[in-house]
Parts: sequence; C-alpha cells; structure tokens
Amino acid sequence: MPGIVIVGVQWGDEGKGKATDLLGERTDWVVKFNGGNNAGHTVVIGDEKYALHLLPSGILSPGVNAIIGNGVVVDLEVLFAELEALHARGVDTSHLRVSANAHIITQYHRTLDKVTERFLGKRQIGTTGRGIGPAYADKINRVGIRVQDIFDENILRQKVEGALDQKNHLLVKIFNRRAITVDEIVEDLLSYAERLRPMVADTGLLLNDALDAGDVVVFEGGQATMLDVDHGTYPFVTSSSATAGGAATGSGVGPNRLDRIVGIVKAYTTRVGAGPFPTELFDENGDFLRSRGFEFGTTTGRPRRVGWYDAPITRYATRVNGITDLVLTKLDILTGLDQIPVCVAYDIDGERFDEIPVNQSDFHHAKPILEYFPGWKDDISRARTFEDLPLEAREYVLALEAMSGTRISVIGVGASRDAVIVRHDLVD
Ligand code: GDP
Ligand code: IMO
Ligand code: MG
Repeated sequence: MPGIVIVGVQWGDEGKGKATDLLGERTDWVVKFNGGNNAGHTVVIGDEKYALHLLPSGILSPGVNAIIGNGVVVDLEVLFAELEALHARGVDTSHLRVSANAHIITQYHRTLDKVTERFLGKRQIGTTGRGIGPAYADKINRVGIRVQDIFDENILRQKVEGALDQKNHLLVKIFNRRAITVDEIVEDLLSYAERLRPMVADTGLLLNDALDAGDVVVFEGGQATMLDVDHGTYPFVTSSSATAGGAATGSGVGPNRLDRIVGIVKAYTTRVGAGPFPTELFDENGDFLRSRGFEFGTTTGRPRRVGWYDAPITRYATRVNGITDLVLTKLDILTGLDQIPVCVAYDIDGERFDEIPVNQSDFHHAKPILEYFPGWKDDISRARTFEDLPLEAREYVLALEAMSGTRISVIGVGASRDAVIVRHDLVD
C-alpha cells in the first residue's frame, strides 16, 4: 500500500501544500521529512486560507496523523505558535507526533543565519533567516541539540555549552555581537519540555507499523529539487535533502516503502533568494506572472523572481527523484497570454545543451532556447476534466508532459481545494 512522496520540482512554492491537502481525505499519515519553518505552504479551504511553515499541511485534514520526522529542524517557539493558531481556528492537532531525533533551532542559529548573510554581502544566498543552515551545520558537525535532549537538563546543558563554545568566539570577535549565555538557551528550551513531552515518539517505528498495516502515508517535502543541498544549485540552496531520497532518511523508513513519487511543478517558474535562473523575466511578462500568480513569499513576503517554464529542470527532477507522477499547478495563471514560451534547452556560449550543464558556472549564464505555444483566453478555473480545457491548454500540457519523461497526473486550475483536474489517481 502506498507510501506517497511529494516533492517540489523547481525552486519551491510550486503548490506542494495544496497537493498534500488534495490527498487529505485518503491519507492516514502525513510526515514532514526535511527543512523547518523556512517553508511556507498556503492551503485554501472554502473561504479559509491557512499559511503553514513548520507543520505539515496534512495536519489540516481531520483524522490525519501528522509527523515531524527526524530530518526536520524544529524551532519550538514556532511549533507552539502554529499549533495555537490552528487551535484558535478549531483545527484538531492532537494527532501530531515529533521525532525524538529531530534537531532544534535555537536563538544562536537564528542569529548566526542573519549575521553570516550580512557578512556575505553581494555573495549572500538570501536565506529565510530562520536559522535553518546553522542548525543543519551543527547536526552534521555533531554539536546539534536534539528534541530528546531537552528532557535531561544535564545533557542539555553540556550540549549547549559545547555548541556555544566556538560560536561565542565567532559572534563576539568576528561578528561584533554579544555573547549568548548557556543559561538563557537552556532556560528557553526547558520552558517547552512539558508541552512537548506528550508529542515525542519513535516516529520511524510508528510509520513503519502504519505502512505494514496498509495505511496511506504521505511524505511531504519542503523546498524543492533545485534547492536540495546535493542536487540543487549549490551554494544557492537550502541545507537539507528536499528530494525523494530525503523522505527515507528524514523519516526512518526504507526507500522500498516509497511507492509513488509525486513531483509538484508550476506551469511557469519562480525562485526566492539568489542563484541562477535561466528563464527569469525582467519585463512586463514577469510583472504579469507575479501579480496574476500572487508570487510573494509566504514566509518572508519577498516578491518572487519569475520566469517561463523550464523543461530541462523538470526532466532533471524526474531523474533525481524518480518521479512517477507530476502535478502541474497554476495553469490558470497563464490564461490570457497570446503565446506561451517554454524553455526546451539552453544556449551556453553558442553551444546547445539539452540538459542542465554539469558545470554550474555554465548554468549561471545559460540562455533559454524557447519554443512558443499558442495561448488561450477562456477562463479555465472551472474545468474539472481534461476535455473541459481549451485545445491550446491541452496542447500546452501534453507538450510539457512529452518533455518531462513522466506523466502529468493532476492539473491545478485555481487556488481552492477542488480546483483540480485529475487524470490519474495518485493513490491506487
Ligand atoms: P508550496 O510552498 O509548494 O506549498 O507553495 P506555496 O503555498 O508557497 O505557493 C503556492 C501558491 O499557489 C499558494 O498560494 C496556493 O494557494 C496557490 N496554488 C496552488 N495551486 C494553484 C493553482 O492551480 N492555481 C492557482 N491560481 N493557485 C494555486
Ligand atoms: P517551500 O517549502 C522557496 C530558499 C531561500 C533561500 C534558500 C536558502 O515553501 O517551497 P534557507 O532559509 O532555507 O537557508 O534559505 O532557499 N528557500 C525557499 N524558497 N520556497 C521555500 O520553501 C524555501 N525554503 C527556502 O529563499 O534562497
Ligand atoms: Mg512555499
């Protein structure tokens, strides 16, 4: 029975939250396996709009067991603020469980994220400033604080001392900031311990048991393929494994439990923060996509960079993740354009590249080779079958499908929960 992974294909904000929500009624478990509150998922249910950062979107579906997996970095203040905001709106979150092995984002991670970005100057990554990179750096450096550590004050104190030792030298001597005391961190983390205790579990065991019992488990990826620390446009990436492999390591199930890999891809491209983006638009077409698509960050409110659809990126994501199904979102945003350009390959110093070049310096100055597809004028937001779409929209979708190396199973035609066309069932 299905373990279904949801991953972003491009640079994030493809509409992963909506895709998880779409599966909601047929999902028993949803697990966030990477990232932290750098993510921003907007889900529209009826007249209600929910913006979630740390919690998986699946928590909005009644009766679904939500898991924060070991691969996540957890800011406890944000965790409880989000839970309280959902309680206030009547959402039941009692099914949430948090991995004992997930790492904690502390105040020093948030501070370091901001000061290192400032020091990078022109070379800055444009992080969300949430402490994500420094928290993962500590994890890999083996000086991180895990969720389970806050239940033993002695251990916690020792670990915080170890972590702050070098950091205070850095903060004071290099970054000209005040030193952070062990006491203030320990006190802050301990203040969450009793509220957190009932949520903490061996989440890998829970998930394996659920899969053994035939439950449907959705692994909800944050960020996206091109932001993945291994497979993205390094160093302009996030610090976690946002691709399908991360679903296994970040949740404690074997890769053979992942039956379907669903890639979420927008009908055009967006990116927040710095880094290469071959199809980026700086003209009125860019303004059109940004305002029509409401492309402003859910987490930071920054205007998103926008560009045309990039077919080699989808092909790359299909390979890297083993995508079995694509969900093409925001097709409705393209309505009204006379023609729709699609990047089919790149021109790099006069040479044609059909795939993303191996050398990233080449990618930085790749020019898109565009193919033009006829646009459509009719409103498509009420289309519910593929045949309801105008001919030009169908041809656009079929062309993207042919270039992607996998099938387009679902098409998004509006922000609301039901504004989708399902061509192939994602759970079978
Ligand atoms: P995520 O980070 O991948 O979950 O995506 P975000 O929530 O940051 O951004 C996607 C935005 O697009 C959200 O505001 C969604 O409500 C919206 N959205 C998702 N699918 C569609 C669609 O098919 N059409 C339109 N118009 N909006 C959509
Ligand atoms: P969702 O899940 C878009 C980007 C940041 C920055 C880089 C590193 O909503 O798709 P970080 O704070 O993670 O160290 O920042 O990654 N970034 C995102 N961009 N959507 C996201 O999440 C993102 N999470 C991180 O803008 O360029
Ligand atoms: Mg987002």
